[in-house]
Amino acid sequence: MTTDPELLALINAEVDFQRTTINLTAACNYISPLVSSAMRRELSNIHCEGYPGKRFHQGQQNADAIERLAIKRAQTLFNAEHANVQPYRGTMANVIASVASVKPGGTILGFACDGGGHYSTGGNVHLNSRLFNIETYNVDQDSQLLDYAAIHALAKDLKPQAVVGGDTSYTGQWDWSVLREIADDCNAVLIADVSQTAGLIASKVISNPCEYADIVTMSTYKTLRGPRAAIILCKEPYSQAVDRAVFPVCQDGTNIQTIAGIAAALHEAAQPAFRTYCRQVLANAAALAEALRSFGYSLVSGGTHNHACMINLSDAQMSGNEAAIVLAKTGLICNSNIIPYDTGTPVNPNGLRLGTAAVTTLGMKVQHMEQIAMHTYRTLESANDTAELMKIANEVEKLRNQFSHSEQRMAEA
Ligand SMILES: Cc1ncc(COP(=O)(O)O)c(C=O)c1O
Repeated sequence: MTTDPELLALINAEVDFQRTTINLTAACNYISPLVSSAMRRELSNIHCEGYPGKRFHQGQQNADAIERLAIKRAQTLFNAEHANVQPYRGTMANVIASVASVKPGGTILGFACDGGGHYSTGGNVHLNSRLFNIETYNVDQDSQLLDYAAIHALAKDLKPQAVVGGDTSYTGQWDWSVLREIADDCNAVLIADVSQTAGLIASKVISNPCEYADIVTMSTYKTLRGPRAAIILCKEPYSQAVDRAVFPVCQDGTNIQTIAGIAAALHEAAQPAFRTYCRQVLANAAALAEALRSFGYSLVSGGTHNHACMINLSDAQMSGNEAAIVLAKTGLICNSNIIPYDTGTPVNPNGLRLGTAAVTTLGMKVQHMEQIAMHTYRTLESANDTAELMKIANEVEKLRNQFSHSEQRMAEA
């Protein structure tokens, strides 16, 4: 067998990095051994185009069965009429949802990026904004929460063909029934992108948009703890348009290897232990928010109803990027993020996003969130003190090491 020491060294360096740092990136998680082993290399040897029972190549009976299983599990878990498990990523799923429901050039009313929307549905740089006219609603400037009356007024004015809900960094709750009313009032399709919160929805700890939205998109690797891919759910009348928009309009080959990983993640998400995990994710985020506030940080919307906290650094001496860079020096990994009505820019914003999905998978509880908030505060206060940063980095690593047994357990499972 050929070996590749150069690549192996890089991979091992990443494994070491992950074992010594605390991952607070809201979009990250650790996949389980079951998900990892489901993505067997033999499945990558299958060339698949089309859908189960309607493939363009022969020898697909096992691929068909795997994809059908993933579809059935997605439908059951999310209570969805139709599921497509082929989208390569969440952003592609969003383009597909638009292609399936909006005429080229039609208006889509999405959630502005600074309010918490994702750039693929609320920005002007993504393919979606080249194919469609993206208009946006935002949060209320004072409460930093969604103002449904204002969204309604905007929708009446713009008459969009689609209204998109869902977020990448909004810490309030979504009222899907009100968005449904707004969409109905202007004859628009309602699309929900729940990439961040898919796992929380699957475990029923936050509200499920499937009852209300015509099309629901999600990436599968965040709170859902699956592989880096996506799922689209929809009401039956949209099923043909969605399937066709996936293949052949936007994508070709089907990644059966990844779909097997999705099927495994959906199986895990249906277990009672996953609900316990999701409840802990929420409890940890609430505890992290509370502890950060006790250190004097101002949080966007005042707190959180999901797995993420957004720190507003507008009045601080450092930008979001500077804060994220110094936190990485002590092993606290997170990302800078735009915040409502930010005076900064998407690439140099004034916010910092911290999430609890990955640390909760490691086994961290509320008391560890208090330690993380303290390490965050000390790091940001010691940005120019190299000796102090090294001291904090040691303490962060010690905290991380308390959970090396969870990784061991995961590896042996
Ligand atoms: C709401 C939302 N949609 C889409 C995406 C993009 O997903 P992907 O990386 O799978 O393209 C993200 C990523 O963070 C997200 O938060």
